[in-house]
Amino acid sequence: MITRLTFDQISTAVHDAYEACKDIKGGQNAHYIPYLANVNSDLFGISLCLPDGRLISVGDTDYRFGIESVSKVHTAILALEQHGAQAILDNIGADATGLPFNSIFAILLENDRPSTPLVNAGAIAACSLVKPHGDADGKWKAIFDNMTALLGSEPVLIDELYHSESATNFDNRSITWLLQEYGRIYDDPKMSLDLYTRQCSLGVTAEQLAISAATIADDGANPITKRRVFGAELTPKVVALMSAVGFYEHSGDWLYATGLPAKTGVGGAVIGVMPGLFGVCAFAPPLDDAGNSVKAQAALKHLMKSLNLNVF
Ligand code: DON
Repeated sequence: MITRLTFDQISTAVHDAYEACKDIKGGQNAHYIPYLANVNSDLFGISLCLPDGRLISVGDTDYRFGIESVSKVHTAILALEQHGAQAILDNIGADATGLPFNSIFAILLENDRPSTPLVNAGAIAACSLVKPHGDADGKWKAIFDNMTALLGSEPVLIDELYHSESATNFDNRSITWLLQEYGRIYDDPKMSLDLYTRQCSLGVTAEQLAISAATIADDGANPITKRRVFGAELTPKVVALMSAVGFYEHSGDWLYATGLPAKTGVGGAVIGVMPGLFGVCAFAPPLDDAGNSVKAQAALKHLMKSLNLNVF
């Protein structure tokens, strides 16, 4: 498909999407995490990375924001790489929940399974699966190093966000203890929750996230560093997870509207993966009711429409 698209066409489409969406109003910053509530709501950027490493960036693409739930993709890749696709299916699942990202009901409906590594329950379970078992520092290093390899450069922990989130994450504490009761946390529960909270508090730029999305699109080879981060056989699994539940209860509507496998975060980022073609990230803090960035969604919809692309 990319063969019919020139670099200039893609670049024009990214810039057009930015211009068309930059004045969109609506939504509000994540209010349940104090740090995120105070981020500048006017920030907006789009970055797209091609498999040959060329980047097209417009707007606030070097602003460092909280990665939040987008990190679930990165750590799912680590857990897949360490344990294999079948073990992730058996221990966590790969189902769409059709429910909000922090739903306890979803765990009950799935007969005690966390459903998928891309909702809070499954992401905490994924952190519990990360090796080396029982070693908080070793596990954090594995999560951080994997993130760095996917981004092509280091993220930076936003201490204020980490403390803000740790002090207020009562829903995630409930989820963790419920999963523990069901035997679905595979390491120390408090440690697993802390690792999850810390990974969500990593500061990244839209450009870094676009590079990580392009690494997925490029079957696990980072287009900037040229380093192989994960086995190519995992790409369909990662893209399947993103397609099924990347927008939580709006995942079907999103796929139907855009044809772009994507993952959102309450920090305001949305990453999209077009396998073999590109990885993209749009970022703007104000969110809709489901916790998905209003402007980033609009920008990626605009982009896919003007490129006339669809994963299906
Ligand atoms: O656990 C939480 O609630 C946050 N750290 C992340 C939630 C999130 O990003 C949901 N995605 N849109």
